[in-house]
Amino acid sequence: MKIAMVTSEANPFVKSGGLADVTFSLSKELVILGQEVILFMPLYKQISLKYEKDLQFIAKFQIHMSWRSQQVQIFRAYVDGIVYYFLQNDYYFFRDNIYGYDDDTERFAFFTLSVKEAFKVLNFKADIVHLHDWQPGLLPTLIKEQEKNNPFFKNFKFILTIHNPAFKGLFDKYFLGNLYSLPDYLFDNGEVRYENNVSSLKAAIMSSNKITTVSYTHRDELLDPYSEHGLSSVLELRRDDFVGILNGLDYEEFNPSENLYLPHLYDRLTVTSGKSLNKKALLEKFHLPLSDKPVFGLVSRLTWQKGISLILSRARSLIRQGGVLIILGSGEYELEQQIEHLRRDFPQDVGIYIGYNNELAHLIYAGSDFFLMPSLFEPCGIGQMIAQRYGTLPIVRYTGGLKDTVIGYENENTIDANGIGFIHFNEGAMQYGLDLALKIYENKKLLLKLRRNAMKLDRTWFLSAESYLHLYRETIKE
Ligand code: GLC
Repeated sequence: MKIAMVTSEANPFVKSGGLADVTFSLSKELVILGQEVILFMPLYKQISLKYEKDLQFIAKFQIHMSWRSQQVQIFRAYVDGIVYYFLQNDYYFFRDNIYGYDDDTERFAFFTLSVKEAFKVLNFKADIVHLHDWQPGLLPTLIKEQEKNNPFFKNFKFILTIHNPAFKGLFDKYFLGNLYSLPDYLFDNGEVRYENNVSSLKAAIMSSNKITTVSYTHRDELLDPYSEHGLSSVLELRRDDFVGILNGLDYEEFNPSENLYLPHLYDRLTVTSGKSLNKKALLEKFHLPLSDKPVFGLVSRLTWQKGISLILSRARSLIRQGGVLIILGSGEYELEQQIEHLRRDFPQDVGIYIGYNNELAHLIYAGSDFFLMPSLFEPCGIGQMIAQRYGTLPIVRYTGGLKDTVIGYENENTIDANGIGFIHFNEGAMQYGLDLALKIYENKKLLLKLRRNAMKLDRTWFLSAESYLHLYRETIKE
């Protein structure tokens, strides 16, 4: 089967969040399952600077966005059997960041239009085009409208995966014509309209053959009219074509017994000593006094979605109860400031690293006793799965993928537990989770049991990739 992934980010080239892990790992696994997979993404500045030597020039063509004419170059690279095609235009993509510009709408319109042309230039007749999130959302509409009579696209089928429903790719109706050269009636008939704007995500929901999101629970949440994601009425129209498929985890990248970043390797049998050696290394790294206090780790984008404010609301009392907090991430200025204040107040019990550092992230996952992830919403989440793989008990709010991957300890009867969970997004519930953690930490036998339960889980990509493949096959048959 010929599969084309279309995404704004993918490992190993560029990553801002879990999306990059999924597009890469899923593609890799599909290749292992015998499929032909190509992946389209923009050639960002970071990629051209770092991988210049690995990129092979393939073709050059012009794109017309109504009155604008822009050049595109295609470059190719191979990783693990995946063929990456990078679409280059320095005006749009040679910038310091990958998102966050006033003209993001135009940048990704350019990307989407380029992908449509690239299929022809490369003569790649896809069986499945798998779109991720809002950025390439108008691709099926473009092909249906502008390539109606072109036999080349006749058998193209589209799958959309929603990784983050908070980003709907909204823009003014004016740009439908101005950027995409699409007619106004698509707005008037509701195909692409979201309230008073166009939404690229809604367009993709309406025009793709199938829609997925990254956990079963999140599918239900998106369909729930009482949820705050604002997509239930449109997804309701597509209910029968909408499924949840849980993400996997790359078990080679995140492996406590074979790992370039960890000072001490361990497995299920040696977890107690292995973790305590890594904990020592972690505390030293952050210049914190060595002690046997429980360490609570956090590796996350520091945004409202991740429940950072909830953690901060209980952090002072947690520290007074004997906890140590280690935080790595970056994001909203206000949250970064609050974390900085916390460290100033408790320099002996708080370690922070503002930014991203892969090696340090591995050490936090391995050296912490508990991992904090009380998200407001979490379509799937990867941190909790990494934590479990490293024998670190995640403390989660039961939402989206967190609910599907964590069995919370409650009492002696929850023998399968592999973490701690609570339902409500409020301080009392957070405190309940932290109290439970402190209690578990005192009972070393129980702690060991739960750690081993977590490490025993199998969340390799194989199962998820099989589910996608099954969905692709069904879609092609229709
Ligand atoms: C988004 C979601 C996260 C999910 C990831 C990959 O970042 O917020 O929950 O794990 O996409 O699907």
